[in-house]
Amino acid sequence: MKASKAKASISYVNKLNVNRWMRGSKGTRYAIPRTVWLTRRSLGSMLRAYRMVYVKPKGGEKGKGVMRARKLQGLRRYELRFNRKTRKAYSVAALHRLIRRHKKSGAYIIQQGIRMMKYRGRSFDIRVMTQRKSTKSSWVMTGMCARVAASGLIVTNTSQGGDVLPVWTVLRANMSRKRARSMTGRIERLSLRIARRYAKKRSRSVVFGVDIAVDRKRRVWMLELNTKPGLVPFRYLKDKSMYRRMLKYRRRK
Ligand SMILES: Nc1ncnc2c1ncn2[C@@H]1O[C@H](COP(=O)(O)OP(=O)(O)O)[C@@H](O)[C@H]1O
Ligand SMILES: [Mg+2]
Repeated sequence: MKASKAKASISYVNKLNVNRWMRGSKGTRYAIPRTVWLTRRSLGSMLRAYRMVYVKPKGGEKGKGVMRARKLQGLRRYELRFNRKTRKAYSVAALHRLIRRHKKSGAYIIQQGIRMMKYRGRSFDIRVMTQRKSTKSSWVMTGMCARVAASGLIVTNTSQGGDVLPVWTVLRANMSRKRARSMTGRIERLSLRIARRYAKKRSRSVVFGVDIAVDRKRRVWMLELNTKPGLVPFRYLKDKSMYRRMLKYRRRK
């Protein structure tokens, strides 16, 4: 009994399964980046298709073990980035060996890379909190914030030195008021569709943290779905109203 309780508190989610589940619904499919298991063959075909891909542990968190691979022009044909390091490789086979040398143990996935919109030269994505008061209530968006990557890093995680800013600030740096308003609406609607879809799999959940990226063509993408999202990023915002709203929602369960 005790052991099963402890297990239930681990926030482990298999990213490939989530991805497949989201692709299975019309309302979310368009926003899901292509994701497959990492093998030498899939590395080659994904790089041919997308030129830039993310390689990450299937059940990772806090941006740990995340790498980015790119196809370049010229002789040194591939580039691998992780932490603050950059390595070059001359072939897919060499790149694959490089990944294997630097990756953590366990299975990895490879995902279509999203060319994220930037704020002051740094990539950002958006954490959207979706909550419901009970498993019978409808899902509500209780807040969103932008997570801006620490400069020189390929991940936006706050635990890796990323900054938290109001979504409005980072969107307005890239588009008009009117566009920013419609973009926040799109992000909210997509996140709610994602929450409702995932709740079909996890019917007892009352909170999800959905990570959305906006690319340079203003398309929206789901990067990750967190089943135990912390409220921490929202505490970094000067305006604490979203944070208070989330706490209130949680208490009323
Ligand atoms: N496909 C992708 N395209 C662009 N950036 C990505 C992609 N996947 C991950 N990232 C970046 O890496 C960060 C960490 O990846 P994520 O899948 O959320 O792993 P973790 O569970 O460790 O947070 C994301 O928040 C985002 O900044
Ligand atoms: Mg994440």
